[in-house]
Amino acid sequence: MEGKKIYIETYGCQMNFSDSEIIVSVMKDADYSFTNEMKDADLIFVNTCSIREHAEQRVRKRLSELNSLRKKKPHLLIGLLGCMAERLKDQLLHEEKAVDFIAGPDAYRNLPALVDLAGEGQKVTDVILSDYETYADINPVRLGGNGVSAFISIMRGCENYCAYCVVPYTRGKERSRDSETIIHEAKELFEKGYREITLLGQNVNSYKSVTPDGEIDFTGLLEKVADIDPLLRIRFATSHPKDLSDRLLMVMVKYPNICRSIHLPVQSGNTRILEKMNRKYTREWYMNRLTAIRNFLPECAISTDIICGFSSETVEEHHDTLSLMEWAKFDYAYMFKYSERPDTFAEKKYPDDIAEETKTKRLQEVIALQQKLSLESNKKDVGKIFEVLVERESRRSKDFVSGRNSQNKMIIFPRKDFVAGDYVQVKILRCTAATLIGEAD
Ligand code: SAH
Ligand code: SF4
Ligand code: F3S
Repeated sequence: MEGKKIYIETYGCQMNFSDSEIIVSVMKDADYSFTNEMKDADLIFVNTCSIREHAEQRVRKRLSELNSLRKKKPHLLIGLLGCMAERLKDQLLHEEKAVDFIAGPDAYRNLPALVDLAGEGQKVTDVILSDYETYADINPVRLGGNGVSAFISIMRGCENYCAYCVVPYTRGKERSRDSETIIHEAKELFEKGYREITLLGQNVNSYKSVTPDGEIDFTGLLEKVADIDPLLRIRFATSHPKDLSDRLLMVMVKYPNICRSIHLPVQSGNTRILEKMNRKYTREWYMNRLTAIRNFLPECAISTDIICGFSSETVEEHHDTLSLMEWAKFDYAYMFKYSERPDTFAEKKYPDDIAEETKTKRLQEVIALQQKLSLESNKKDVGKIFEVLVERESRRSKDFVSGRNSQNKMIIFPRKDFVAGDYVQVKILRCTAATLIGEAD
């Protein structure tokens, strides 16, 4: 297999994108090379997501397209990785002609061996979940990046068991990565010219690891990473509202390089629904956490995730979500229709009883409201000056560059001589609901 080329396609969340960088690293160590061109590949990995039914349908459609590539390349091997692999296991080998082998999220060290066996014509599957695997010692190969921002996985798995969610089943037990390896990776990235890192986990607030000096929690880790250099921006995702502490907010106040942006998924604005979702907080608790953020960090942006049409949600309960959104004035939101996932608590215990049209209508209302809130939030920024970290040439025009401010808002402005990695003071002149447009001050 020496020198054979691999291509990887990634679906789902940032964790999956981060995993793909680990996968490529493992394969490079086994003497494979990486290509950005699918047509050149001898081996294609599809790193998949199971979070909603639609995510899986997209992958299945893609697999049938990939299968047709074999006509030209009979020796092509296709591996299915990630959460769908974990959820469906070797069922996929029977259902999908395109798939030669299967590896779950904790089996990536075994990929070179699996590929060898698949190359001999065996249909192989490794979906064993581990209580310990964090890939701590693997140096990820940064893919498709701009050399400025990078992800660092700090933990894996999730044990929150929100009733609707597949992640605890596809990703296994929660485990934290050794803090020294995280800090080392962050330092190395900074030395290579990276200026922004995002610490990743399904619930970063419950990070916990043991060092020679004692236990370290997420707040402690954040401080250590923020201490690396004031020019290194730190982001983190995702925070669970039940665990967002004042201590964390105080550390953010102390370090201007910890970005003023918190992603705090609310899911619903109604306490009965939240309880049924097993989110372990109430509407009031969530509002209290938002008030704390606004008190400690008045300039902090807050974004969220919302699910519309969870089992038994009434129209009044849906209105509670809308009123919470109005109150919270979210800067940004990811919004979804509830999608029942096999084997979750909700699938076993609760009927998926909100009609598709109702889910669609509720989602549309939530999206329309968020569109209004995002525009209002952006309008408030017109006239302000922000420090922007330049990421790349703007997609709209060669004469513009794009980057983000600390609040994670996308800002475009005239390129001049700016290059990726520069910090620029930008005055905001206009906006849309999605973008701020400005000029260097
Ligand atoms: N760990 C993060 C997010 C994980 S998944 C957290 O706990 O917040 C990202 C988002 O997908 C979730 O926040 C939720 O809004 C959405 N989601 C998860 N399962 C879903 C389902 N079955 N149907 C619809 N949306 C879902
Ligand atoms: Fe899923 Fe809840 Fe875990 Fe997030 S915290 S990954 S929504 S179970
Ligand atoms: Fe999807 Fe797995 Fe992430 S289900 S959202 S890729 S953890």
